[in-house]
Amino acid sequence: MTNTIEITKAQTSKIHEVDFENLSFGKVFTDHMFICDFKNGEWQQPEITPYAPLTLDPSARVFHYGQAVFEGMKAFKDEANKVWLFRPEDNLLRINKSAERLAMPEFPKDVFMEGLKALINLDEAWVKPGFGNSLYIRPFVIATEPAIAASPALEYKFLIICSPAQSYYSGDVRVLIAEQFSRSANGGVGFAKAAGNYAAQFYPTSLANQEGFQQIIWTDADTHEFLEEAGTMNVFFRINDTLVTAPTNERILDGITRKSIIQIAQDSGIAVEVRPIKVSELIKASKSGALKEIFGSGTAAVVSPISAFSYKGDVFEIPKDEKSFSSIFKEKLLNIQYNKSEDPYGWRQSI
Ligand SMILES: Cc1ncc(COP(=O)(O)O)c(C=O)c1O
Repeated sequence: MTNTIEITKAQTSKIHEVDFENLSFGKVFTDHMFICDFKNGEWQQPEITPYAPLTLDPSARVFHYGQAVFEGMKAFKDEANKVWLFRPEDNLLRINKSAERLAMPEFPKDVFMEGLKALINLDEAWVKPGFGNSLYIRPFVIATEPAIAASPALEYKFLIICSPAQSYYSGDVRVLIAEQFSRSANGGVGFAKAAGNYAAQFYPTSLANQEGFQQIIWTDADTHEFLEEAGTMNVFFRINDTLVTAPTNERILDGITRKSIIQIAQDSGIAVEVRPIKVSELIKASKSGALKEIFGSGTAAVVSPISAFSYKGDVFEIPKDEKSFSSIFKEKLLNIQYNKSEDPYGWRQSI
């Protein structure tokens, strides 16, 4: 494969048709996409083309066996109109880890970084300045080989598509702690961003929605005693002034926001405990008043405070705190992402 990306520009831009003040998340896409095919045992010529539908054979294996992995990341524009990425190599490492677990080929890092930057440069006008505005970037890999044998495909497509996003306010998030359904199992694919992990959550989450809960906090599949993560977020618990979060393992996604928060918290002198945490401990802390906060962390919302949780029919409300840890972490992370503060970690990357 040559590293030079072939670029075909769109003849006209759709940008003038877009109402950037009223964007629904993930429904509008930029003018271009990155695409690269895998066949004959190697990745072929990478290309940037006008954003367009794909034509796939109905027997393409992705439709039958769900051989598909993806990533979610963002680009931000600072006040001088410079565009920044946040820890992009971590997303590439993670998609390759996910791909390996689903018997899919890894994608080369240099081609990913070059393609990503070239794509965002081309669609730079879609990254709107202003705190809260961003470009959501979705790299993904699908098995395209037309063959319905239940075995790994010999052909794949790696794509990157981009969607402008506005500040995401999740509102009052109330969560249900899982007692019956599970998101992942020991030895399974929970740590991977495998498409099927998300499909499997839709039904239990819709049941939770009907009961007035926006998200589920998943527990371990064996005992349902240990708190793991939420739908598309890792979860943190503030007990008194200590931040507690579950260790990542084969069932939990190793979130980039999670590890950034752990680092920022430690460097701010906040005690962090990365350890298994039981539902019973959470309930005890809630009853005694030691539970000060629960929040989710993820690329979409950065941090999402949780206002109540339910377990076995009992609802536990979490008091609101003006000086919450979650608001401190959110501000510190956004300041790094939008180039408003120093980045002592080297997380920010210009395109
Ligand atoms: C299951 C799951 N957990 C956690 C996260 C948060 O990860 P990150 O902070 O890298 O966005 C995500 C989102 O990517 C996710 O899908």
